[in-house]
Amino acid sequence: MYKLIIDPHKELGHIQPEIQGHFSEHLGRCIYGGVFVGEKSEIPNVNGMRKDVVEALKEIRIPVLRWPGGCFADEYHWKDGIGDKSQRKKMINTNWGGVVEDNSFGTHEYMELCRQLGCKTYVNGNVGSGTVQEMSEWVEYMTFDGVSPMAELRKKNGSADPWRVNYFGIGNENWGCGGNMLPEYYANLFRRYQSYVKIYDPEKPIKKIACGPNAQDYEWTETVLQQCHKLSGSWNNAHGFMDGISLHYYTLPYDWAKKGAATGFNLNEWYMTLSKTLFMEELVSKHSEIIDRFDPDHNIGLIVDEWGTWYDVEEGTNPGFLYQQNTMRDALVASINLNIFNKHCDRVKMANIAQLVNVLQSVLLTEGDQMIKTPTYFVFDMYKYHQDATLIKSSVETTTIGKEEEFMVPNLHESCSKDKDGKYHITISNLSAEESYEVCACMQENKIESAKAEILTGKMDDKNTFEEPDRIKKTDFDSLSIEGDSIRFTIPQNSVMHIEVSLG
Ligand code: AHR
Repeated sequence: MYKLIIDPHKELGHIQPEIQGHFSEHLGRCIYGGVFVGEKSEIPNVNGMRKDVVEALKEIRIPVLRWPGGCFADEYHWKDGIGDKSQRKKMINTNWGGVVEDNSFGTHEYMELCRQLGCKTYVNGNVGSGTVQEMSEWVEYMTFDGVSPMAELRKKNGSADPWRVNYFGIGNENWGCGGNMLPEYYANLFRRYQSYVKIYDPEKPIKKIACGPNAQDYEWTETVLQQCHKLSGSWNNAHGFMDGISLHYYTLPYDWAKKGAATGFNLNEWYMTLSKTLFMEELVSKHSEIIDRFDPDHNIGLIVDEWGTWYDVEEGTNPGFLYQQNTMRDALVASINLNIFNKHCDRVKMANIAQLVNVLQSVLLTEGDQMIKTPTYFVFDMYKYHQDATLIKSSVETTTIGKEEEFMVPNLHESCSKDKDGKYHITISNLSAEESYEVCACMQENKIESAKAEILTGKMDDKNTFEEPDRIKKTDFDSLSIEGDSIRFTIPQNSVMHIEVSLG
């Protein structure tokens, strides 16, 4: 019996909904075909946006959507994507398959998508190959409500009112595809570029996000923070100089040369992948320690704006499109990461899984007019109750399991929150592909009035396909036994569970 101890009155912080954010890049079939099909498409759409995709994303309460990249952002020139579509410039998408980008999805379309989704906006600016003027004018175009050249241009293009930009990224991966810069150089550019990202309406501040490290590049974090932290305002009342620093970390079973297959993997690869994803805990902790030194008041958010699994592309697909299938293993990866972000909600203010549809660890896959929900989708569906909730102190007894010394993992992983109605939400995963475990969740002498649960479970490489779209889906879990302050249950192997608890 494994004890899961919850201290219902120990409130540890606010879980920003944005922790369950998403990312959409002009990459493969994410935007084109995945989200946007155009007004004239036979695929049911509203103003060009797929109805099925928008509906599914609303269901999981998508809180924020990052766009237009990724590497694409640092070669994106926003003026190519506005105005008459027939006149929009066609360009090569040099990062992703060398295909033609016709710019039919641009600023207006992105804002329309976020309007339909009811989510916050996170626009990533171009530092690598763009000018300060270009970035400054983009922000003026999107947010200025008055008379100015860019506001006039926006009105001419059909949007009388400005939009809300909640987050603005000053470059992406500027240590790599975004310009191969050194941290000192980027830090100076950040100081300069952000100066011209103007906040026209103090009631609607734009949170500015600096490009942060690649995984464990602690030197990058240290240098950028050292040079820029004095620009920070306050997270809750951003004046928008430096409100966050990003972190990118992908889970690859092997390495960048041979990443490993998305499906048909073995037990070793299961544990290898989960242990690699658990490294996120160390990354978040260590980068947070550095940020703490410069920002003890927690005004600067750690923004994990790219995370998820990255496997070898599906055979027979364009290698530049990063299309991969999604199994129960991905569901476990998602649950582990979301638990980690919850537990670090004092510093992690946003996280964006890569990517929304048809690219890397997607919640949705599309093929023509068909759409399927992946196992990862259902994890977000079960975790949505943590959004805007209060993190509650919890811990679980574990044993270490696995096949190889180097890739051992705990058998169980959890987090707990309390929502605005006073209900508790426990999410717990069984990382074993071989064994089920008996668990006793104890609410520390607080009588349980009622509890209900839902579960996502299956064989380790079970997946949904267009032929069999409902193989993996969440179901009600009725085998909870409640006694006093405790709930007992058996969590099957390869499972993610959500338990909702009301106290008496
Ligand atoms: O998500 C795919 C790519 O991964 C992004 O474009 C880039 O930022 C990262 O390297």
